[in-house]
Amino acid sequence: MNRKLRMGMVGGGSDAFIGAIHRLAAFMDNQIELVCGCFSVNPEISKTSGKSYFLPDDRVYETYQEMFEKEARLPEGERMDFVSIVTPNFVHFAPAMMALEHGFHVVIDKPITFSLDEALKLQAKLEETGLTLALTHTYSGYPAVKDAKARVARGDFGKIRRIYVEYPQGWLAAKEEDSGNKQASWRTDPKKSGKAGCMGDIGTHAHQLAEYISGLKVTELCAELNVFVPGRMLDDDGAAFLRFENGARGVLMASQIAAGEENALKIRVYGEKGGLEWRQHEPNTLWVKWADRPTEMVRVGTGQMGAAAQHNTRTPGGHPEGYLEAFANIYRNFSLTVRAKMNNEEPTAEMLDFPSIEDGVRGMRFIDTVVEAGYNDAVKWVKFEG
Ligand SMILES: NC(=O)c1ccc[n+]([C@@H]2O[C@H](COP(=O)([O-])OP(=O)(O)OC[C@H]3O[C@@H](n4cnc5c(N)ncnc54)[C@H](O)[C@@H]3O)[C@@H](O)[C@H]2O)c1
Repeated sequence: MNRKLRMGMVGGGSDAFIGAIHRLAAFMDNQIELVCGCFSVNPEISKTSGKSYFLPDDRVYETYQEMFEKEARLPEGERMDFVSIVTPNFVHFAPAMMALEHGFHVVIDKPITFSLDEALKLQAKLEETGLTLALTHTYSGYPAVKDAKARVARGDFGKIRRIYVEYPQGWLAAKEEDSGNKQASWRTDPKKSGKAGCMGDIGTHAHQLAEYISGLKVTELCAELNVFVPGRMLDDDGAAFLRFENGARGVLMASQIAAGEENALKIRVYGEKGGLEWRQHEPNTLWVKWADRPTEMVRVGTGQMGAAAQHNTRTPGGHPEGYLEAFANIYRNFSLTVRAKMNNEEPTAEMLDFPSIEDGVRGMRFIDTVVEAGYNDAVKWVKFEG
């Protein structure tokens, strides 16, 4: 196969936030082109957005249902190969399932669905069809995070004992949902966001990052969720103690009322011999700490990191590999995997290194568990089911 992969999009019109980031990320490595979309719940906005992306009128659709049906009927040489779903959480499952039913691969933003049950249905459909799904847990796409994972897996720190992951934001410190902020409005509405607010929106990122770097799964947790802004219907802050499968212990905090914070995601992982620290505000630096010698500052793009980080690095040292590049790494690895499958080749481990349906199901279990534990003062530990 000697062509770009053809992408369709659901959401991501001029009325949206993350869709534009997805397009930048998808196009970064010249592996993918946008061929069609239903870019908004408002057909007029879908149309004007499609025009501004220079798409022909007949590939800009009024509904995603129309898009999947019509695209599936196009000749193989024209129709999209995969769809990118960048809508609010309550519009994830239906388009994702319909895409799979029509033979299209899927990229979808987190949390994967509105409910765990929906995520399990997507998992079953993926197993049945053999199609590929990538979930854009952006932070596992950073090269320094790849290097952190590789160091833990290599056993540099011995058995992992302690994980701290914190994700404070401040943008919901006031009741933004009442002042016309669209992104705030659906995120704080249980009918659109799901049963969690902050924990679903960014707690899931923190949870996925902890499991990704450590290679360990959370088995149970003890949590407190809070609603600080009066009148808000979902958690805007919370914290959890985590127990991991190997006996390691963790603390996770996520907040959207940490006034003054931007996107201050930070993770620390400690084993018997040392540990590491990574902050998304300074993404090219990985701090590696030792019990018996000074802390090392390991930098992206300098040759100081291993093969996984290098595979996911585009620029020489000193040029931050940031949010867009991390997003692009998910798209590139996904597209390499889809391309390999189309060529009847086996995708390599490097190609398969992107968040998948398993991460999606884990994320929904995290939401269920943290919500169950988070308002219950009587029960201390709640187990992850499954
Ligand atoms: N990975 C990340 O770092 C990250 C960051 C931000 C948002 N997200 C996730 O991305 C998703 C979208 O978030 P956002 O902030 O961009 O939301 P948004 O409200 O800014 O945009 C949503 C878009 O979906 C469109 N839409 C809604 N219903 C539709 C339908 N039925 N058909 C077609 N289009 C429809 C809207 O018109 C809009 O264009 C959410 O699931 C969110 O959790 C992920």
